[in-house]
Amino acid sequence: MTDFTGNGQSYPYTRLRRLRSSNWSRQLHAENALTVNDLIWAIILKDGKNAEESVEHMPGVLRLSPDRAVAAAEKARSRGINALALFPYTSTQERSADAATALSADNLMCRTAQAIKQAVPEIGLICDVALDPYTDHGHDGLLENGEILNDETVDVLCQQAVLQARAGFDIVAPSDMMDGRVGAIRRTLETEGLTHTQIMSYAVKYASCFYGPYRGAIGSQDVLKGDKKTYQMNPLNTDEGLREVALDLQEGADSVMVKPGLPYLDMVTRVKEAFKVPTFAFQVSGEYAMISAAAENGALDRNRTIIESLQCFKRAGADGIITYFALEAAELLQKQ
Ligand code: PBG
Repeated sequence: MTDFTGNGQSYPYTRLRRLRSSNWSRQLHAENALTVNDLIWAIILKDGKNAEESVEHMPGVLRLSPDRAVAAAEKARSRGINALALFPYTSTQERSADAATALSADNLMCRTAQAIKQAVPEIGLICDVALDPYTDHGHDGLLENGEILNDETVDVLCQQAVLQARAGFDIVAPSDMMDGRVGAIRRTLETEGLTHTQIMSYAVKYASCFYGPYRGAIGSQDVLKGDKKTYQMNPLNTDEGLREVALDLQEGADSVMVKPGLPYLDMVTRVKEAFKVPTFAFQVSGEYAMISAAAENGALDRNRTIIESLQCFKRAGADGIITYFALEAAELLQKQ
């Protein structure tokens, strides 16, 4: 039997509370740490000038115009945040069946990346590679006769990734869950001489209702038809997630992600233990909404819940966390 006492002794010789009895001792014996280096700030963009707009169900999250996003990047950097993940709100008029706006070199994402890189070149920029902000049906891929086309979508994603990398994104993060997209994107980046661009694969991405507020935030909610179950994973599965990670690593991913976050921490641990590669988790919009709603109605202490929830990702084995709380968390960590 496993010896849980560690020294063969049991109570009263072993008293685990001894180590917890004071702050210095608790800190000395902490097995994990959360620092600002672990945080990636998720930011929603919307076209305009000097404008910001609140997001339904996500109090504290704002859609930022490109100039405001530059200011946010400067603030993030001054708080020690290393990277931002940008997501675009796209109006119905800019959406189409072929997702043409995704391939327009001066779309909102590309313009904002250029502006941020000019003002704050030392901050890392991450973008989704997926078509959902640009399709008129809100799906991540091209849709034909009710089916999401895999290989045709991958071709578009490759072009999108090149465009984004050229605009200044350091990490392209395929979040579409098409088969074979990581390999195709990697080959295309190599061919185009974009050998420094990292691929952070949303490898273990579930068909989750926790994305609800995000879809509202980027303008997909009202146009989305059906669900994403034919490409995103079944929340009941775990072994399948390991196969996804294995394939994405073989195809050339530099790091992998599990998404959503807190309800899926078992997958963070499994992936980290099995592959020992850089493993990230996304504390998604629904998680943000849950914590902020509970804080707003007085059920939870907002600051302490933010920090504890992020610490849990570290305990599970995540190397970093994409979160809408990043700036707030960075400020809280500074005060600790
Ligand atoms: C789409 C995408 C989604 C999120 C990030 N990229 C939603 C979806 O797959 O429908 C969710 C982010 C969040 O909920 O915060 N490729």
